Amino acid sequence: MGKLTGNVAIITGATSGIGKATALLFAEEGAHVVITGRRAELGQRLENEIRASGARCVFVEADHAQAGDCARVVERTLAEFGRVDILFNNAGIVTSGTAETTSEEIWNETLAINVTAVWRMSKLVLPHMRNQGKGVIVNNGSDWSVVAGRDAFPYIMSKGAVAMMTKSMALDFARENIRVNAVCPGDTFVDRWIEKGYFEDSDPVTIERAMKESGEYIPMGRFGRPEEIAQAVLFLASDDSSFVTGHLLLVDGGNTAQ
Ligand SMILES: NC(=O)c1ccc[n+]([C@@H]2O[C@H](COP(=O)([O-])OP(=O)(O)OC[C@H]3O[C@@H](n4cnc5c(N)ncnc54)[C@H](OP(=O)(O)O)[C@@H]3O)[C@@H](O)[C@H]2O)c1
Repeated sequence: MGKLTGNVAIITGATSGIGKATALLFAEEGAHVVITGRRAELGQRLENEIRASGARCVFVEADHAQAGDCARVVERTLAEFGRVDILFNNAGIVTSGTAETTSEEIWNETLAINVTAVWRMSKLVLPHMRNQGKGVIVNNGSDWSVVAGRDAFPYIMSKGAVAMMTKSMALDFARENIRVNAVCPGDTFVDRWIEKGYFEDSDPVTIERAMKESGEYIPMGRFGRPEEIAQAVLFLASDDSSFVTGHLLLVDGGNTAQ
């Protein structure tokens, strides 16, 4: 028996990074998974990989900035599996700038994906969780949900909002056996960092050296791995955390302890 056997889980933004690692882990733990994202090829590939392992999986191409796409994801989940036990609000974008340099466009885009989509997806699944008598929502925050940093004003604003959405929802639905928590990762190495050109080249040796050097500021001396964040999400999504709600679980190698 896996920790999530028979549970139906929606994981938003599972085409790469933390969402992908979580989808693979949830499937391994017996969940039926619905995965979303805009990059259809990557989503389809992951769907095939999970199905090949023997688990049930559906990829729904969706842009979570669009209300209609959020609704479609939940409709498809119910059509396919008839219930939804777990929602991992993971889809997110990283944006930079200060209060002075942030444009209206970046502000709106950051809010739409990192904040509004979290609320919309939660609003859509809550009635079903209530009818089932049980449900779990895990939001993906950040270490920047609890401390600030420089030149990432729109992102930090959005992840701060995720922290308070988590606590607020946890209180409102606690008596209905719906738990709401957030995983708050510190810097976690994902493929997107290579795509964004954070490293000189994509040679694994160069990346490993750069990772070691630039991860020095973290007490544990390195960046996190998506699989390590996924384990924390599994804890919050499973009955292992049955008395935990309204919690922000920092998974940051000690970064916010300094
Ligand atoms: N990596 C870190 O250091 C770190 C630290 C703290 C928090 N986080 C949080 O972790 C979450 C996942 O990020 P990641 O680091 O794993 O990076 P990632 O690989 O870029 O993953 C982001 C995921 O979100 C999806 N997404 C973004 N915008 C979307 C939209 N409009 N509609 C649907 N899906 C969308 C992306 O899919 P498509 O591109 O296919 O749409 C992708 O699957 C984010 O919320 C991020 O803020 C990451």
